[in-house]
Amino acid sequence: MDVNEKYDQVESWNEVLLVYRSALKEINTKLEILNDEFQHVHRYNPIEHIKSRIKTSESIVKKLKKKGYESTIGNMVEHVDDIAGIRIICSFTSDIYQIAEMLANQTDIHVISVKDYIKKPKASGYKSYHMIVSVPIFLSDKTVNAKVEIQIRTVAMDFWASLEHKIHYKFEGNAPESIKAELVECANMVSALDEKMLQLNKEVQTYSINQESDGWVEFIP
Ligand code: GTP
Ligand code: MG
Repeated sequence: MDVNEKYDQVESWNEVLLVYRSALKEINTKLEILNDEFQHVHRYNPIEHIKSRIKTSESIVKKLKKKGYESTIGNMVEHVDDIAGIRIICSFTSDIYQIAEMLANQTDIHVISVKDYIKKPKASGYKSYHMIVSVPIFLSDKTVNAKVEIQIRTVAMDFWASLEHKIHYKFEGNAPESIKAELVECANMVSALDEKMLQLNKEVQTYSINQESDGWVEFIP
């Protein structure tokens, strides 16, 4: 590869990154709007917080190698679905499905695939709702579709996943069986906690004490 060719490659990679960054901005804005509207209508925020990231070029190359593809920009865009990633953390499991549905119903979002690791957890105990979506990005002279991996989970699921991730790395993927078994046990506790909190929240909703005033007050002349 001569110097000019290398320069062209860097330039195209920078353009690709710009598109993925824009896709993250688009989805973030959509989520902010949904959260604000939810607060306005239901006096409640389904989203606790949002994290986003662009995959490093090293891990993109590693993933392509694992899948048996050459490291070209075309292969990256076509075969790596999680170059842009968004993680949405909610309070309750019910919020997860509501957010997923609200996103999927937006006409400019195309859902490519869904993996429901809440209904069907991974052997590790991992639970989350994953979607790969594509969103159009309007550039000065063209429109391109960018893929984004969206992971939606509860605060408790996120707590579990961060610890499991740390342990996984520490043991380079070969954690002792006893630790793996304890993680599965913790995952079951997380599910029980999520279920109990959801029920408790539902129960609290049925009480109407301290209901907010609708703004009308008795007029005493
Ligand atoms: P990756 O090659 O890891 O991206 O897997 P995949 O392409 O089959 O996608 P999948 O939907 O299974 O997982 C994508 C992402 O979910 C991972 O990059 C992690 O962020 C997260 N994830 C999946 N499994 C686990 C798990 O067992 N533990 C933790 N902590 N995170 C997980
Ligand atoms: Mg991944």
